[in-house]
Parts: sequence; C-alpha cells; structure tokens
Amino acid sequence: MNLGRLNHVGVATPDIDTAIAFWRDTMGATIVSEPFDMPAQGVRVCFVDTPNGGTQIELISPLDESSPLTGFLERNPLGGQHHMAFEVPNIEAARAEFEAEGKRILGPTRIGAHGTPVFFVHPKDMNGTLTEIMETPAHG
Ligand code: CO
Repeated sequence: MNLGRLNHVGVATPDIDTAIAFWRDTMGATIVSEPFDMPAQGVRVCFVDTPNGGTQIELISPLDESSPLTGFLERNPLGGQHHMAFEVPNIEAARAEFEAEGKRILGPTRIGAHGTPVFFVHPKDMNGTLTEIMETPAHG
C-alpha cells in the first residue's frame, strides 16, 4: 500500500446547513464550498478547508431515507466522524492490494466528490474505521 496524504475526514450530519454554521462560527473556518448533491451515493456534500492546504472536513448528509447514511445517523443522531479518506497515486493498484489481503471493499470503484476515483473498505477490516481510498486529485 502506497499511503498518501489524509485528504479528508468525512463527518456525517443530519443538517448540513447547521453543520456549516458550526464550522464557520465555532471553528473559524473561512473557506467552505457550496453544498452539492451526489445522488448516486445518496448524499449531500460540502467541503470545509483547514488552512494552508490542510486536510478537509467533508460534511455529508443523507439525501433521503435510502441513503447509506440513514442507519449511521439513527445510531448517531448528532452525526459524527464517518470515514477517513487517504490519497493514493494509483487507485487500481491500491484496490488490487486490498483485495489480495482479503479486505472487504464496498461496491465498485467510482468517481468521488473530488472528481477522482474512490473506493471504500469495510470498517471491520480496517480496525473499525470506514476508510475511503481516493486517487490523488491533480490540484489539492
Ligand atoms: Co469522503
């Protein structure tokens, strides 16, 4: 595994506008993306930057009841840390390595919120943390 930068921490929230206000007003975030829907993944997404090109916070909220986040928010009504996303230089090589180790990969490799290919590895095979592996974006 060619471990790259921690690109973002995914944080689930029942209300993305309230979460954005928290990150602006309490945490002092100054660069927050416009929220956008990712219907294929059942989520609404917004990125909060930390300074100097640091790791982002990816706020995610369910688009509807069928969202994969619905169960998480039933167990965690306030929301909370949902996944970590690490960059890799080559997504296909990384997937092959996880598969060779018998790790359970959740679904196909798909285009993630940064426009690069991603896949998710089951938390039970990752010391309890749902882990997103994403190909390094061209810029940031
Ligand atoms: Co993510």
